[in-house]
Amino acid sequence: MTVQASHLVSQTLENTAPLRPVVLSTWRHGLAANAEAWKILSSGGRALDAVEQGVRICESDPNNLSVGYGGLPDREGNVTLDACIMDETGDCGSVAFLQHIEHPVSVARRVMEATPHVMLVGEGALKFAVVNGFKKKDLLTNKAKKEWEKWQADHPDAIKDRQVNIENHDTIGLVAIDNKGNMSGACTTSGMAWKLNGRVGDSPIIGAGLYVDNEIGAASATGVGEAVIRAVGSFLVVELMRQGHSPQNACRLATERVIRKNPGWQKLQVGFIALDKMGRVGGYSIQPGFDYAVYDHAGRNRMVQAKSRL
Ligand code: GLY
Repeated sequence: MTVQASHLVSQTLENTAPLRPVVLSTWRHGLAANAEAWKILSSGGRALDAVEQGVRICESDPNNLSVGYGGLPDREGNVTLDACIMDETGDCGSVAFLQHIEHPVSVARRVMEATPHVMLVGEGALKFAVVNGFKKKDLLTNKAKKEWEKWQADHPDAIKDRQVNIENHDTIGLVAIDNKGNMSGACTTSGMAWKLNGRVGDSPIIGAGLYVDNEIGAASATGVGEAVIRAVGSFLVVELMRQGHSPQNACRLATERVIRKNPGWQKLQVGFIALDKMGRVGGYSIQPGFDYAVYDHAGRNRMVQAKSRL
């Protein structure tokens, strides 16, 4: 886009009343998360509280096989969780490779608010969570264990197998703008099913799985984390919006970048969602089938089918 065209876009936006509050999240499980977030936003609450409470719904759902309690384990049967959160000031917190804690997003928020750090991982993150009053829980449900046992039976050479599950990536990324125009985001997942023990994806990495810039907008990613990290995907979406692209176009262009950075992209799924300061939303993915949930300023919570490259 030329400088002149970008100037025209910002002029148009300046003359339009912003739409808010708005909540936007990945996949169908986003409907329930949005509804929870909306309870806070519709009573004048802060976007940060809304995004945290929203994704906690998915973290607690035992039928959700890709987030929190009930998430599918790694190859050795461990449920390991990744999550992050970011607020309107640019402050952020993150946990990765965290076990035994149902709400990694809330531990991430505690890291943000109570420590000088951004990210805690593994045993250290667990110790921090327990010291801060989070209760330990067995996160491997019978349903997830049965899936893991079936996968092991089908893959006797599992530990040597380079191919891991690339379909199960239904991360919840949720971004919101509140009545005051402040934006926040949260992202949480049990990550790639049957991953190697110790693997961390894009979801807890600020800039990859999630990015918020209160002047511009917010974005989150879902899909194969390695592919998203290589393109620093969510940061890229926000930077494209800064250049004047709509949320929809920014998601499309970021997906194109992921494609350029990942040979073999035809076999991968990566999707982005984006929300700008005006309350406009967008989403785009490599493969068809990605959808996202939008709770708009008019109070409608609905699914939108994302456009895709393939
Ligand atoms: N996007 C989630 C993951 O790759 O772990």
